[in-house]
Amino acid sequence: MAGHCWIATGVDDQALLLGYGILNHSFFEQNSIALVVVKENVRRRGVATALIKALEAQCCGSKVFTSTNASNMPVRGLLDRLGYIESGRIENLEVGDSELVFVKLIAS
Ligand SMILES: CC(C)(COP(=O)(O)OP(=O)(O)OC[C@H]1O[C@@H](n2cnc3c(N)ncnc32)[C@H](O)[C@@H]1OP(=O)(O)O)[C@@H](O)C(=O)NCCC(=O)NCCS
Repeated sequence: MAGHCWIATGVDDQALLLGYGILNHSFFEQNSIALVVVKENVRRRGVATALIKALEAQCCGSKVFTSTNASNMPVRGLLDRLGYIESGRIENLEVGDSELVFVKLIAS
């Protein structure tokens, strides 16, 4: 199924790539944020927050899922701040590091 990639660029320089986020339906055919990555030297400036909000705005339906390794505290902090709640856990994808599933219920 087709996915969509959103790119964050510099305000004054649109050729400057700051980060990207991917939204698709790969998770049980649900809205799914598959990946968000922000360039290291521009982190903690709201780029991921802006990307995720842009992805959420593209979603049809009332919820969006994402997941991350339990060890990925930056993503867990980000998701908590954006109102995502835990929605399950998958073991055995990586040794000793569970995959945590999160969902955000989008107001209609
Ligand atoms: C996780 C990541 C996308 C965050 O991007 P970002 O642009 O720095 O995030 P934001 O600036 O929007 O952060 C918003 C909030 O998330 C939380 N957060 C972000 N990075 C954090 C960190 N390193 N530690 C703890 N909390 C963090 C904070 O609450 C932060 O708000 P604050 O800066 O006011 O405290 C970025 O660190 C990254 O690209 N990491 C590597 C790739 C990755 O692991 N992607 C996820 C795989 S799916």
